Amino acid sequence: LAILAFLICFYSVIESSDCTQNSTEHDQVLSIRATTEEQVNVLKNITRDNQTVLWQPASPSHITTRTDVHLYVHSGSVHHVTHQLDAHKITYSVLLENAQHLIEKQTKNETTDPRSGGMNKDRYLSLEDIYYWINKTSQEYPDMAEMMLIGSSFEKRPIYVLKLSGKRPAVDKAMWMDCGIHAREWISPAFCLYFIKYALTYYNQYSDITKMLNKMDIYVLPVLNPDGYKYTWTTNRMWRKNRSVKEGSDCVGVDLNRNFDAKWCTEGASSFPCSEIYCGSYPESEPEVEAVAKFLRSKKEVVKLYLSIHSYSQMLLFPYSYTYELARNHAELLDLAQDAATKIRRFYGNIYQYGAGAKTIYLAPGGSDDWAYNQGIPYSFTFELQDRGKYGFLLPPELISSACNEALLAVKTITLRVLQKI
Ligand code: ARG
Ligand code: ZN
Repeated sequence: LAILAFLICFYSVIESSDCTQNSTEHDQVLSIRATTEEQVNVLKNITRDNQTVLWQPASPSHITTRTDVHLYVHSGSVHHVTHQLDAHKITYSVLLENAQHLIEKQTKNETTDPRSGGMNKDRYLSLEDIYYWINKTSQEYPDMAEMMLIGSSFEKRPIYVLKLSGKRPAVDKAMWMDCGIHAREWISPAFCLYFIKYALTYYNQYSDITKMLNKMDIYVLPVLNPDGYKYTWTTNRMWRKNRSVKEGSDCVGVDLNRNFDAKWCTEGASSFPCSEIYCGSYPESEPEVEAVAKFLRSKKEVVKLYLSIHSYSQMLLFPYSYTYELARNHAELLDLAQDAATKIRRFYGNIYQYGAGAKTIYLAPGGSDDWAYNQGIPYSFTFELQDRGKYGFLLPPELISSACNEALLAVKTITLRVLQKI
């Protein structure tokens, strides 16, 4: 090991940096801006290096002179990367000095008994704890929360939906919300659990959630991509895709938000299995996507509102993402998103951008929101929760409740207005 360390060190000396400095470095996240086409190409190449993980945008192909690029760089490559950036006069700043430290803080479990399982607002739950929590919650609220198994993941983990309903006769309207489609976006599953907890606790106490649960069933899927989520806890915190293995390729995983049957695998997705935006071998090839699509197809007469929760960048997006063309009810969707963003700004001071996906971030076909919309669900949104890049995917546990509170306000604002329309 010592010899190996020496060789790596020696190599980095040749590569232009000094050993002592390199060995004290941490994994860092850089914010980078390329301003010329040449710089864009250099930057694309850097981000393709597997010692780096692109946080934003989702794929190197989306980098332009107007893109703020957020790049996770492993400690051993920090010098090499910054040297290359300097050599090409590409400007950058350090977003996170020590990313491992944040990762450690997020996975540490303060409670001694993991099965105390209670949802502590200020920590992230492991996949096992989430399963346990879903189960326990459905037992505590047998008349309001029904646990439904809608399918299983590539590695055969169960995919559960909690069906939330008020204490009233059956209704013919529903909404859907999924979380955790992308593995590393930990605030997303945390929000689904937070929402469930809020709904069950404050039903018949607060008028907003009472109205929602009285008028409609709310289907909540806390972890759409359980294999990926598990993997971010055990092996690689920065994993995005699911964990499906493909014959003939060494690369693992499909981007589940490129695998839906909506202009599948056109511009903005990749047919290359090693890409972070790999669309899979055919639409719904992934069992996680198939499970969701099947369920929603079976309920498409009743589901009027579709929500998909991601992070990060603070955006409220709606169809389309696969084309620049406007959705039929674009003005209405825009109005709803604007209302939610305005409320967040007024109550919490945080800025959320809003608009059609393609125009607001990038072309991205095969997404769940576009697919749901084209199934006839007239109100369809993708939320990108906190933050805007300070911590990115590594949002500290102390910020969970802040992120969830404002997202909850957006969900309630949009849902209550949709209820008046349907
Ligand atoms: N950041 C998300 C993604 O890359 C955005 C999703 C927006 N909707 C969409 N259909 N692409 O998946
Ligand atoms: Zn995402």
